[in-house]
Amino acid sequence: MLSEQTKARFDREIAKYPADQRISAVMACLSIVQQERGWVSPESEQEVAEHIGVAPMAVHEVTTFYNMYNQQPVGQFKLNVCTNLPCQLRDGQKALQYLCDKLGVEAGGTTADGLFTVQPCECLGACADAPVMLVNDRQMVSFMGNDKLDKLVDVLKAQAK
Ligand code: FES
Repeated sequence: MLSEQTKARFDREIAKYPADQRISAVMACLSIVQQERGWVSPESEQEVAEHIGVAPMAVHEVTTFYNMYNQQPVGQFKLNVCTNLPCQLRDGQKALQYLCDKLGVEAGGTTADGLFTVQPCECLGACADAPVMLVNDRQMVSFMGNDKLDKLVDVLKAQAK
């Protein structure tokens, strides 16, 4: 169930749009849900839909279109490695494989300790910096060769709660 605080956060986003276009706030509301719960469950989609006043499918379409929304629980650190063509030409796939091997997971998987989820992703808009990665949907890191991947994992482990 949505807390009063979450509803207030939703309402602040909804107020940015005309009354007949409340659906425009759906991405922001989904981001809030993910920030608070770590992922967007079908129940969360339902709650967002009810609060905004749209069909649940209209929310589900957004959740499934953008890969930043987690449709299942993820690790404390979600690592997205770009594997689109420009990054592929500069070892994007190798970076993904190296990370998976280092952490002992398949692409898309989460480590047994719940710390890391490793996923391939689409172009992050920084192709000249390939291989490029995104950490927890917020921090972009560039030129991720094996040495930098090792350092990144060490830094994140040190930050782990
Ligand atoms: S293809 Fe990787 S950032 Fe564009």
